[in-house]
Amino acid sequence: MYFQLVVLSGTPGTGKTTLARTLSGMMGVKWVGLSDLVRDKGLFLGVDAERGSLIADVERLIPKLGQLAEEAGGRLIVEGHYAEVTPREWVEKAIVLRTHPGELWRRLAERGWSEGKIRENVQAEILGVCAYNAVEAYGWEIVYEIDTSSKPPSESVREALEIVSRGGEKYRVGRINWLRQLEKEGKLEEYFK
Ligand SMILES: Nc1ncnc2c1ncn2[C@@H]1O[C@H](COP(=O)(O)OP(=O)(O)OP(=O)(O)O)[C@@H](O)[C@H]1O
Ligand SMILES: [Mg+2]
Repeated sequence: MYFQLVVLSGTPGTGKTTLARTLSGMMGVKWVGLSDLVRDKGLFLGVDAERGSLIADVERLIPKLGQLAEEAGGRLIVEGHYAEVTPREWVEKAIVLRTHPGELWRRLAERGWSEGKIRENVQAEILGVCAYNAVEAYGWEIVYEIDTSSKPPSESVREALEIVSRGGEKYRVGRINWLRQLEKEGKLEEYFK
């Protein structure tokens, strides 16, 4: 069966689950969150004690994902901060969610996360780790980015629908650069001390 999956990736707190849920309803396409799948189906190798997170067993996760895509008729929205593990040949488009470091810090602090855990994730967002991983996995042609910093989730849904239906130069990966932005704001040091 031919798969056309939409991959939603991004640093924790950028809005993947929020977006996936609504996008799924509007597109009439099922969605799956990789972290939930890994936990619920026991698809992990162990626990990362330092981070308090599960270490996904990708070798078992991928066939499970294939099975879900098959059951869904070939269309599925896959979300997760390592969603680029989804094989290239199954992916139609990948969207990386991006959030300004200041806003991301606020969102993660609201979750009650430790400063160390927040800082690690915000630094990864500044350096564009998820965008890098998506481009490495899929090539820049099918990778897009949306900025969820200061607009309502409904606006992110609209942008994602535009990307899925038309693509759009406006959303091509590479336009969002927090390093440059923070340097301009004189705030880069705050995040790397
Ligand atoms: N434009 C937006 N799009 C999506 N979420 C937004 C947006 N603006 C604000 N938010 C808020 O950001 C938070 C994002 O949380 P969410 O759980 O969706 O992130 P996540 O990327 O799935 O995180 P995790 O990787 O930890 O599961 C929510 O509280 C959501 O309401
Ligand atoms: Mg989530």
